[in-house]
Amino acid sequence: PEAVLRHGDARPMPAVGMGVAEYPSTPERTRDAVLAALEAGFRHFDTASLYRTEAPLGEAIAEATRRGLLASREEAFVTTKLWCTQCHPDLVLPSLRESLRNLQMEYVDLYLIHWPISVKPGPMVFPVKKEDVVPFDFGGVWRAMEECHRLGLAKAIGVSNFTTKHLDKLLAVATILPAVNQVEMNPVWQQRTVREYCAAKGIRVAAYSPLGGQNWIGEGNDVMESPVLADIARARGKSIAQVSLRWIHEQGVTPIPKSYNKERLKQNLEIFDWELTKEDRLKISQIPQKKIVTAARMFSPDGEFASMTCHVYKDE
Ligand code: A2P
Repeated sequence: PEAVLRHGDARPMPAVGMGVAEYPSTPERTRDAVLAALEAGFRHFDTASLYRTEAPLGEAIAEATRRGLLASREEAFVTTKLWCTQCHPDLVLPSLRESLRNLQMEYVDLYLIHWPISVKPGPMVFPVKKEDVVPFDFGGVWRAMEECHRLGLAKAIGVSNFTTKHLDKLLAVATILPAVNQVEMNPVWQQRTVREYCAAKGIRVAAYSPLGGQNWIGEGNDVMESPVLADIARARGKSIAQVSLRWIHEQGVTPIPKSYNKERLKQNLEIFDWELTKEDRLKISQIPQKKIVTAARMFSPDGEFASMTCHVYKDE
């Protein structure tokens, strides 16, 4: 299954993507994991300039083409993202060109603004410091994204981590509407407000941390440890991860699970030949909501970023 994106020459986005990011990792591990994913059947890969996985992802796709796993690069759907330090009108096109050099590709299928946050130009560091944050130029940055699309370097353009308020600001200045908004979403953080808004505007939603994330902060994982999901998984003879991915898919959202493990990669694609029941869906809709991955917490906790992230998530 695939989702048709709004931009005419964009190819449809395969219904599950592989998150190409692992911390810490090496280029070799990433390259091998992408090859394993291609063998398992993945055709949709999600990277970002921040992740430093563009080069090994590109190498794996080139290698898969040489091996005949892929007939051509066109068979892969590749997303990359503009980091906060690159969110300046005159840096967008050069940043995409740099990503394309890393990927060894002529175009990406989807180019996303990683965060609605602009940081003084400089090294791509994370977390960002509050004194480096500058006002986000929605009009200027989006016009530069549109130019990337017109030049054929990004078949589709979109955003990530945008709330309805950010989308309002963007839509007020956009000539080409965003095709995708990629946000944190899973049964424990269901993002109903953003999803309703995006559905009304024809923006496809993609879900990062569809399994509750990588447990950066060692506080457990409310998705993988959910008793509700565990019960449903047992009843359906599936894993909790599959129940979560299937539920996201049934909501009309594209999950982007992250695993570099062969077995789990395979499992994460096996969500299309079965479905949840009405009762399952009802139970999942009643799971208490909690923001888990805390992309927010990964930003500087003091001062502006605390309020910035509050602002980012206030209406969810
Ligand atoms: P691993 O990388 O060892 O496979 P998210 O996609 O929400 O960011 O979550 C990623 C986390 O979920 C990783 O720790 C990953 O572990 C784990 N994971 C990915 N797929 C599965 C699966 N099918 N079953 C169990 N855990 C999984």
